[in-house]
Amino acid sequence: MPFYSVIKMNAQYVTTAKVYIDQLKRYQAIETHLARLLGGWLPGVERWEVKKQIAYHIWADMQHSQRIRTRLWELRITNPDRDVDAGIEKAIEALACAQHDYELIAGVYLVLKTELLAAYKHYVATTFSVYDYPSILTLNTIIPELEAQINWASRVVGELANNGEKRRQTQRWLQFAKEIINAMGGVNGDKPIHDLPIAPPGYALLLPFTQAKRDERFKVQIIGSPMPDENDVMAYMLWQFSNYVQEMQAAETLATTLWEVKGMEWEFYYDVARHCWDEVRHSELGENRLNQLGYHITDFPCSIGSYGWRQLFNPLIRYCALTYVIEADSFKLKHNSYQKYLAENDMESAQAIMYDIMDETMHVRFGQKWVPKMMPHYQEQKTLQALIDECRNIVAKHSVSPAQRQAALAK
Ligand SMILES: [Fe+2]
Ligand SMILES: [Fe+2]
Repeated sequence: MPFYSVIKMNAQYVTTAKVYIDQLKRYQAIETHLARLLGGWLPGVERWEVKKQIAYHIWADMQHSQRIRTRLWELRITNPDRDVDAGIEKAIEALACAQHDYELIAGVYLVLKTELLAAYKHYVATTFSVYDYPSILTLNTIIPELEAQINWASRVVGELANNGEKRRQTQRWLQFAKEIINAMGGVNGDKPIHDLPIAPPGYALLLPFTQAKRDERFKVQIIGSPMPDENDVMAYMLWQFSNYVQEMQAAETLATTLWEVKGMEWEFYYDVARHCWDEVRHSELGENRLNQLGYHITDFPCSIGSYGWRQLFNPLIRYCALTYVIEADSFKLKHNSYQKYLAENDMESAQAIMYDIMDETMHVRFGQKWVPKMMPHYQEQKTLQALIDECRNIVAKHSVSPAQRQAALAK
């Protein structure tokens, strides 16, 4: 074989590998920005069960991104964010202009995630089955999860868009979402790129939400409930576990932070997504325990004030207040409760609290890791300690939770 054809073959081979690698770079970016978009919308999702599931998908999507990034590292891409098409972020952000949660879910799952699934399947079917087998294994772990997400969304959109007008809005939004994905050249970026389409009339961005939404089953109140007499065993337990349910607001604060904070390193979004989902589990921990005690979460007032006051401040203050003050100050009450439940031989409550303490320890570490890195991002000139002191004063003044205010003032 003449020398030049070997060169040509090599050139052909290298180009083809590069095409696959570039696709993987796009996929990890799409998964990350999808998680950010769902995060921005989480407070605006009304139905409780749908909100919980979306929070889990935020974490799942960041794990998908992580798996693809790990594979990219094997493929010698040490910085998968370098040279990623900026059109991906713009297109995904254009999907945020939905006016209703059912539209958002339809656009994200029934258009973008559906195209992403098709792209993953195509990649698996066409890449080099021996040389690139590790990529096939990676995508094969994601494909069934994505299929399950899309099936879930298909059912949910059918349930939420439950009249002619909502179905018409959804159809129009689906068409718009398809135009957005076409404008970015499709998931693989291999089609012609256009300007983004104009949103339907009146479709202005609603994000970030100033108020967390709840569905019609809940009795919504701004303030948190005061702590009852500790010696009233059942009243204390119901107070504690109905309070856990309200941690959905911590999840919503973190979720909107995913959306609002742009340009941080990828690992920040990964940790915040995990933190967000943990708070949904803490909310579920309360929900499960109340169910075991014969109650339903809607038997108790549902507070939205904690999310609301935190939105008055920028994401740095919010995140610092949550991790360095609210979470760090919560251990005393939790350890007391743990000992109390042990003494009462209530092992179920004690174990719930113990797992929560372990999660919260990790969340405080997240704060210690990311607050100092967010400070230059927000051109914060204060020292870290001065920022923490400011956040403590803010919690003491603004928190709608009597226990949080009390803990902040006690320091
Ligand atoms: Fe929590
Ligand atoms: Fe936490």
